[in-house]
Amino acid sequence: MMQDLVNAAIAARKKAHAPYSKFYVGAAIRDEQGRVHAGCNIENAAYPQGWCAEPSAISHLIMKGGKRITEVVVMGNGDQLCTPCGGCRQKIREFAAGDVKIHCCTETGKLIRTFTLDELLPASFGPENLKLGT
Ligand code: THU
Repeated sequence: MMQDLVNAAIAARKKAHAPYSKFYVGAAIRDEQGRVHAGCNIENAAYPQGWCAEPSAISHLIMKGGKRITEVVVMGNGDQLCTPCGGCRQKIREFAAGDVKIHCCTETGKLIRTFTLDELLPASFGPENLKLGT
């Protein structure tokens, strides 16, 4: 059930520090133990130093000892589809299998569309590549 992820992402989005873009993003991820970790985007006056909601959530997962991402919820402003950006897809890829579901929701938590990670990042490069030939 993804409602716990949705609720966590809504709460995280409300904490977004996005005074420059005013695009507030909340993300929530489930770990292999079923625990939920959430994060928001955190912008910076030196614009390139800001970061996305997804790595904020991943950071929490790692610090709690989580190893894998098993489900993701992301939401941006209003009803528009907010998929993870390219860099975030790769960051999720580090900890998630290709069939992991990424649910894109409205800011009130209504599901717009669900993708698999493989759909968003096909033929991806990942940790397995570095193990080849070693
Ligand atoms: N943003 C995210 O937090 N996640 C994404 O995957 C897409 C973009 C943020 C970054 C920036 O603070 C704002 O949205 C506008 O790009």
